[in-house]
Amino acid sequence: MGTVQQPRLADVLVIGSGAAGLSAALHLAPHRRVTVISKGPVDEGSTRYAQGGISAVLDRTDSFDAHIQDTLDAGAGLCDPDAVRRTVAAGPEAIHWLLNLGVPFTREPLEGRSRLHLTREGGHSARRVAHAADATGRAIEEALVRSASGQGSIEVFERHVAVDLITQPVDGTRRVVGAYVQDAKTREVETILAPTVILATGGASKVYLYSSNPDGSTGDGIAMAWRAGCRIANMEFMQFHPTCLFHPRAKSFLISEAVRGEGGVLLLPNGERFMPRFDERAELAPRDIVARAVDHEMKRLGIDHVNLDISHKPAEFIREHFPTIHERCLEFGFDMTREPLPVVPAAHYTCGGVMVNHFGQTDLPGLYAAGEASYTGLHGANRMASNSLLECLVYARAAADHILSQTDLPAPENLPVPPAWDESRVTESQEEVVVAHDWDELRRLMWDYVGIVRARERLHRAERRIRILQEEIHEYYSHFRISPDLLELRNLAMVAEIIVKSALSRKESRGLHFIRDYPDTDPALDGQPTILAPENALRPGDTRRP
Ligand code: FAD
Ligand code: SIN
Repeated sequence: MGTVQQPRLADVLVIGSGAAGLSAALHLAPHRRVTVISKGPVDEGSTRYAQGGISAVLDRTDSFDAHIQDTLDAGAGLCDPDAVRRTVAAGPEAIHWLLNLGVPFTREPLEGRSRLHLTREGGHSARRVAHAADATGRAIEEALVRSASGQGSIEVFERHVAVDLITQPVDGTRRVVGAYVQDAKTREVETILAPTVILATGGASKVYLYSSNPDGSTGDGIAMAWRAGCRIANMEFMQFHPTCLFHPRAKSFLISEAVRGEGGVLLLPNGERFMPRFDERAELAPRDIVARAVDHEMKRLGIDHVNLDISHKPAEFIREHFPTIHERCLEFGFDMTREPLPVVPAAHYTCGGVMVNHFGQTDLPGLYAAGEASYTGLHGANRMASNSLLECLVYARAAADHILSQTDLPAPENLPVPPAWDESRVTESQEEVVVAHDWDELRRLMWDYVGIVRARERLHRAERRIRILQEEIHEYYSHFRISPDLLELRNLAMVAEIIVKSALSRKESRGLHFIRDYPDTDPALDGQPTILAPENALRPGDTRRP
C-alpha cells in the first residue's frame, strides 16, 4: 500500500482471509467494494490446517434433530439452541456453496454413481463430516482464495496487520469507521475507512505454549473489539485437542479426530485401552472428555504422552484416508500403518469470542464478527468437531446478507476522517528481544496455570503475572514504534487476562472448564454464558460519544 497519506476507502473492510473472511467477502463482492487484509500470506490461518472436515446433515439416515442434539450435548448445557438450529439448518447449503466453488471433497462410489464420503468424529452420532481426505482446510482455503482473486471488487492486502479499530460519532451514534493498519514490511501505519468492518481474525490458541494452531492465532480481533467497547463471552472455554503429535520438532502437529473416527484407539504404554474407563463413547466422546482423560492418565502415570493406534487397519486404507498425516509422521520417524503414534493434548480452539447476534453484529454499530473470533452461542462449553468451519461459513453469510440489507449506511467518503496514526513521540526499539521473552513467559504461565485442569489459586497467580506483563507491554507500546510481534503480544496478553477473568467468574466445572475448587456442574448455570464487558462497554443502541 506504500506511503499514502489519504485514507484508503472501502464499503466493507474484512480483517482476515480464512474461511470466515473470504466467504464473507465473496458474498459481498457482487454488490460492494471489499477490502480484505491479512496479517500474513493470504492463505495463512487456521483454516488452511483444518484436517477432519466440515459437518452437515448430508445423509438420508441422518437428521437435523440429531446434529442439533449432538451439538447441544457436546456443548454441555451452554449452547444457544437458536444458534445451533440456525447453523445446522444452513449446513447442507454451505457444503453445496463450497462444491460450487470447486472444493474437491472426497467421494465414494454408490450404485454406479458417487456421493460425498462422510467421516465420523467425536460427539457425532452419525457419519456427517464432509472432507477432502485429511486436508479439508487446505482444499477450502485454496478454493476461496482462487474465487476471491477472480473478483474485481475484492482487493486483498497480504501482510497488513490491523492495529486497532477506529470509532467516531456519526449522526450522534458512535460507530466503527475503519481501522489503523500496519504494513508488516514497511512498518507504516495507515487508515482504512469503511462504514462496516468484519472481524474474521480467528482464535487465540497461541496464548498457550503448546498449540495446534499457526503462529497468527493471537486473538487480535477479540482484543481489538474489547478495546473498542464490545462484550466478549465464554473465554474460559479454550478447547484442547487430545491428539497432537508428541515430538520436539512437530510443533504440536494435529492428528485428526477422524483417525479415531475411522477406528483409531488410545493406548497407555502397556497397551491398555483406557478411554472406555472414562466414557461409554470411548475415543469418540466429546473432545473435552477425551483431553481430560489423556491429561489424567499422563499425570497419574507420570508419562509424557499416550499412544494413538490405527495400525490394525489395512495400510492402504490409512494411506488413502490420511495421506497428509501419514506423510508428516513419516518425516518424524513414525509409520502409522505399522505402529502407534505418541500423542499429547494441545490448545486448539477458542470457543468464546466477540459476542454477536444471529446476523454477526457486535455491540458496536457497523462492526461484525465471524468465525473463530466470534461468540455466536453455537459451541457452548465445548465445540463439537467440525462445527467450526460450518460456523465460519454460516455466520459469514449471515453478516454479508445483513450488510447488504442496510440501505442507509454512510458512504466511506462521507465518514469523518480520524486523526492519522501519530508516531512523533515514539522511537525505534533497541530491545525487541524483550517482546520475545514476554511472549514465552505469557504462553508458559497460561499453560502451567490456566490449562486443562484449573484451580482458583493458580488462576490468581496467573492473573497477577499477566498484570505485570501488561504493564511492561503498555510501557513498551507507548514508547517504541510498533511491530507485528509487539501487536500480537499486546493482544495475547489482553486475551489472557480475559480468559483468566472468565475462568475465575465461573464457579462450577462444565465442558472444557474444569476447576478443582468447584468440580461439579451447577444446573442453575445451564444456559448462562460468561459475559465480560470492558469499562468503555457499549450496549446495542448506546449513543455515547467517545
Ligand atoms: P482463520 O482461518 O484462523 O483466519 C484468520 C485470518 O485473520 C488470517 O487471514 C489472519 O492473517 C487474519 N488476521 C488475524 N489477525 C489479524 C490482524 N490483526 N490483522 C490482519 N489480519 C489478521 N475446524 C473444523 O470445523 N474442522 C476441522 O477439521 C478442523 N481442523 C482443524 C485443524 C487444525 C490444525 C486447526 C488449527 C484448526 C482446525 N479447525 C477445524 C478449526 C478451524 O480450522 C478454525 O476454527 C477456522 O478455520 C477458523 O477460521 P477463521 O476464518 O475464523 O480464522
Ligand atoms: C480434527 O481433524 O481433529 C480437527 C477437527 C476440528 O477441530 O473440528
